[in-house]
Amino acid sequence: MITEEQASQVVAEILGHYKKRKKNLIPLLQEVQTKLGYLPRKALREIAEFLDIPEIEVWGVATFYNQFRFVPLGKYHTMVCMGTACHLAGGRLILEALERELGIKVGETAKDGSFSLERVACIGCCMLAPVMVIRDRIYPKMTPFKVEEALIPYKQEVQNLNNIKKSKSK
Ligand code: FES
Repeated sequence: MITEEQASQVVAEILGHYKKRKKNLIPLLQEVQTKLGYLPRKALREIAEFLDIPEIEVWGVATFYNQFRFVPLGKYHTMVCMGTACHLAGGRLILEALERELGIKVGETAKDGSFSLERVACIGCCMLAPVMVIRDRIYPKMTPFKVEEALIPYKQEVQNLNNIKKSKSK
C-alpha cells in the first residue's frame, strides 16, 4: 500500500498541472482518486490549501458526489450492478448476500483490506443479469447461493495470507 508521503508526492504532482482556480476542484478530486484509488483526508487538505478555500468546502463537494471514496479499495474489490436489468433480476439480494458474507456494507472496505464492496450502474452485460464483479472478473446470473460459492477461493486466499502474516510476526 502507498505511504502517506508517497500519496502527498502524487497529489503535489497533480496540483502542479492545475491553475489555482476553484472550478478545478472536481477535476482535481477526480484525478487524485484515479491515481490513489480514493481520497485520503490529507489530500483533501492539500487541495484546499492549493485552491485557497476552506477544507470543509472541499469535504462538502467530495461527499456530495457518490463517485468519491474516502477509504482505499480492498484487494478484492467487489461490485454489484444495480442497473435496471440487474435490479429487476434481484440485484438487491446479491448485494445483501455480499454484505452478509463479507461482513461489510456498501462503500466499506474490510479492516484487513481484503474486500471492498460497491454498487455500480449498468456495466453493459444486461443479458447476464444480475451481475457482480470481483476485480475484473464478471459473475453472471447470480443468486445468493452462487455468491457464497464464488467467494470461497477469495476467502481462502485471504485466510492463507493472514496465516502467513501471523506466522511471520511470531
Ligand atoms: S443493468 Fe446490470 S449489466 Fe446492465
